[in-house]
Amino acid sequence: MNVVSMNQIGKTYHLDAVDVPALIDIDLEIRPNCFTVISGPSGSGKTTLLNLIGCIDQANRGEVIIAGEAVQKLSDDALSDFRARHIGFIFQNFNLLPVLTVEENVEYPLLLARVPAAERKRRVGALLEAVGIADKARNIPGQLSGGERQRVAIARALAPSPQLVLADEPTANLDSHTGAAIISLMREMQREHHLSFVFSSHDPKVLAEADDAVMIRDGRIEKIERREQRKEGAS
Ligand SMILES: Nc1ncnc2c1ncn2[C@@H]1O[C@H](COP(=O)(O)OP(=O)(O)O)[C@@H](O)[C@H]1O
Ligand SMILES: [Mg+2]
Repeated sequence: MNVVSMNQIGKTYHLDAVDVPALIDIDLEIRPNCFTVISGPSGSGKTTLLNLIGCIDQANRGEVIIAGEAVQKLSDDALSDFRARHIGFIFQNFNLLPVLTVEENVEYPLLLARVPAAERKRRVGALLEAVGIADKARNIPGQLSGGERQRVAIARALAPSPQLVLADEPTANLDSHTGAAIISLMREMQREHHLSFVFSSHDPKVLAEADDAVMIRDGRIEKIERREQRKEGAS
């Protein structure tokens, strides 16, 4: 079963008296255990699309099904609970809590999920190790570089063991070398945790890293390339 299934999605923003159509007739399946990139120029609708997949925002038209659940039918409470259990987020600006240490930032979603203390400690330790930031566990985000902050954000997104992780232009605020390292880390985590991992980028170079590539332009899907086709193309 697909992790995300979107059927004839439309999203229009109302800005003063003007309608801004951000997404038009989107049909999209996101497959399990795949590293999927949403690629398109600035303003093409990437953030809007990820916000709909992440249940941060609602579509005006069409149907969104995530992990078998028609999310638009859930109440606000049920939706936040669903999001906390199934979906991890990584943002362009890292969005770490500045007063918490690295380990406290990663532990935070586990506190919300009422995971017992010993299990929290075990998971946080393992994740900080996995993303290569264990030596900075007691630092606060202000003492870290951009790349290090994004490693913390990746660990935090993975902490509640979600099946779907979303990253909105996770490398946009990083230099290209650090950005490439972050993409490799996300790929490694995707494989290790058998995640469905969706990230957006306006950089066409990252297409090569992905299993599936969704190209959007002016709010419409221009093209979807699946792993099988990409392999054939490469051989
Ligand atoms: N909150 C908003 N209010 C009005 N228009 C918006 C809002 N957010 C995005 N848009 C518009 O929707 C379109 C898609 O934006 P966005 O999803 O942010 O694209 P991207 O992430 O690819 O840069 C753009 O035309 C943008 O100006
Ligand atoms: Mg964006």
